[in-house]
Amino acid sequence: MTKDINYSIEEIDKTAKIVLSLNPSAKIFIFNGEMGSGKTTIIKALIKELGYEGTVSSPTFSLINEYFNGNKIYHFDFYRIKSRNELLDIGIDEYISRNDWCFIEWPSLIADMLPDKYIELNIDVISNDDRKLRINY
Ligand SMILES: Nc1ncnc2c1ncn2[C@@H]1O[C@H](COP(=O)(O)OP(=O)(O)O)[C@@H](O)[C@H]1O
Ligand SMILES: [Mg+2]
Repeated sequence: MTKDINYSIEEIDKTAKIVLSLNPSAKIFIFNGEMGSGKTTIIKALIKELGYEGTVSSPTFSLINEYFNGNKIYHFDFYRIKSRNELLDIGIDEYISRNDWCFIEWPSLIADMLPDKYIELNIDVISNDDRKLRINY
């Protein structure tokens, strides 16, 4: 199914709640959208909505950030990755098959490794503070 949501930065927590409610059995989320569109920002809101209270930072340089709130939460950013082999080296297939929460920016290299159940979020910039989210779930 598909759902569209327009949201401002003030509405991001409410938006995260809706995103998590769409398919409660899906724990893999992939994010498409240009640099600066808001992938990291909505992922921060989603991780907060899952009950994690600490600081969430961008994994652009670290590749993977890991959080724990009773469940494991992984935030990936594959922007700098050039080849699929680099992802196989870090064991990406295991990360996405373990039923942990995974939030993935720049997911194109792993498109064919995704499990049956995942949620795809496409973000478009409408104006400085407004974004359009198209969610396939
Ligand atoms: N509605 C919105 N949703 C998300 N980010 C927004 C919104 N409005 C403004 N912004 C700003 O846009 C920027 C998005 O950056 P970021 O989330 O790092 O993008 P990306 O991870 O896609 O490169 C942030 O500076 C954020 O404050
Ligand atoms: Mg980012």
